[in-house]
Amino acid sequence: MNQYIHVSVAWPYANGDMHIGHLAGAYLPADIFARYHRLAGNHVLMVSGSDSHGTPISVEADKRGITARAVFEHYHERFLQTQKKVGISYDLFTHTDTENHHQIAQDIFTTLKERGYLYTETQQLMYSQQENRFLPDRYVEGECYLCGYDTARGDQCDNCGNLMDVTKLIRPRNRNNPQDQLVIRDSEHYLFALDQFSERLLAYINQHESHWRSNAVNFTRNFIQDGLHGRAVTRDIDWGIAVPLEGWESKRLYVWFEAVMGYFTASIEWAKAIKGEPDAWKQWWYNPSARIYNFLGKDNVPFHTIFWPAELMGVDGLYNAGDSTPLNLPYDVPANEFMNIEGKQFSKSRNWAIWIPDVLERYQSDAVRYYVAQSMPESKDSDFSWEAFLNRVNNELVAAWGNLVNRMVGFAYKRFEGTVPAYDVLTPEDEAILAKVEAGFDEVGQLIEAVKLREALNVVMTLTRDTNAYLDGRAPWSAFKHDPVDAARSVYTVLRVIDNLKTMLAPWLPESSQQVHEMLGYDGQIFGDLNILTLHESTRDHLALSYDPSKAIGKWQKSALQPNTPLRDPKPLFVKLEPEMVEAERVYLGQPRQEFPITL
Ligand code: MF3
Ligand code: ZN
Repeated sequence: MNQYIHVSVAWPYANGDMHIGHLAGAYLPADIFARYHRLAGNHVLMVSGSDSHGTPISVEADKRGITARAVFEHYHERFLQTQKKVGISYDLFTHTDTENHHQIAQDIFTTLKERGYLYTETQQLMYSQQENRFLPDRYVEGECYLCGYDTARGDQCDNCGNLMDVTKLIRPRNRNNPQDQLVIRDSEHYLFALDQFSERLLAYINQHESHWRSNAVNFTRNFIQDGLHGRAVTRDIDWGIAVPLEGWESKRLYVWFEAVMGYFTASIEWAKAIKGEPDAWKQWWYNPSARIYNFLGKDNVPFHTIFWPAELMGVDGLYNAGDSTPLNLPYDVPANEFMNIEGKQFSKSRNWAIWIPDVLERYQSDAVRYYVAQSMPESKDSDFSWEAFLNRVNNELVAAWGNLVNRMVGFAYKRFEGTVPAYDVLTPEDEAILAKVEAGFDEVGQLIEAVKLREALNVVMTLTRDTNAYLDGRAPWSAFKHDPVDAARSVYTVLRVIDNLKTMLAPWLPESSQQVHEMLGYDGQIFGDLNILTLHESTRDHLALSYDPSKAIGKWQKSALQPNTPLRDPKPLFVKLEPEMVEAERVYLGQPRQEFPITL
């Protein structure tokens, strides 16, 4: 026990609001996992931040005629608010435009270069004569030289799916300016010699693949089989991290090269700025018994199983008093598949999307978390359907769990003078349900540790249904009239069961579990608070989200609820949804994003 667990969560591009794919793909599973480990008494460090560089940000900035910095700062702040509201409990959610991140990314570049893992090469790229700059591949369009499709992008053809060599496109043109004259020009770039890591990478994969999901194993094996080659880590752009070399002022570090470093840089920032112990990050990065879990969507796998581990291998010993201890590599890379919406793929441009800040205005955070967790694309693509949302919330969250709590705490509150009933002995039936539910702690804990979160939630919900069945058999509300002593036994039992289930559900349902906790008479918080903070660096301040564990008292352990404990007046936990919401949501989907037409 008391393991060091690093929860590394993929950094969202700050070019648009957070949507259901983000939540289902990485943030919610990471949060459930982190919250469980905190309850289990482990040392959790969960970090991520806004990915503020790269073409996705520049494209959005060009579209709106504002700067890339304005785009990312706007969405970064919205990410903080949204994630605070939906309870994604990062120890630090920062961004990649901090001085800290720039500095460390440049140090890593320099270290890799000094150790002979970087080399230069002259590449041929598309140059715009009107804009006087090299165009990112995505800005170039032309005829696909493989299938003839006439609007293939410079990086990929959407018709045949092949990756494109931008210099081979037929009649290439500037996507934003068809009059532009494009020419091919030479440009010098740094490449990262992935091939030098082949053996170490293979050994790493062999060592870990037995506990990886098949998507991570397959993507990675295919990638290695195709042969590891040098990969450019600089770009001809002006938005991003400077290349720390004279003569390279017009170029920047490639976004993927530096964004993955964020797991490391944010850990260091957390140690300095939040924890106030500048070396504290080393417990997760240099202690060989620590485990790093990278939560991400399946399209990001090779960046986390090849590039990032190779970068780490290339800088062993960095900031560690000059020795060459290996840095920890990701222990697991739980990659989720995609979540479709009402049977169709997410599309930002067609607004076929479910935006988290919007749904949080209409539904309880725990209701959203519950449904997304129940339909998480853990092993194959899944679907978000508003009808399924309605059914799951009403039948499972409201009927099976919420009603159980509200009915039984309410009953005890009314009939047993507002306290947990005192009992003489428990019947075998009472003992049986208690034992069954208590056994859930080990089973659910093991499933969460194996990142089988859907299965884990199913176990808890099955226990909830078993409890309802037990209660139907014991029927304390009728027993109370003729045998109040027996009613006291079952009411006591069920309150203790509820106390156990509340703890097991807390990683999924932090807000309502806290309410149950208080109804059962406890003081104090299961989890700590999530705060939006201003962090200071020498030239600029930035906003961050940070989990403050100081008030957290929750533990992954069996209830020891005492008879005669005063209860608190129960308030309904969940709002039952009206069936009309399904149609209202469906009509809204795919419309230009605006105010939701109906008050539900
Ligand atoms: N910004 C990327 C995306 O949204 C993910 C980057 S993950 C990181 O797809 F680790 F590289 F940051
Ligand atoms: Zn094509």
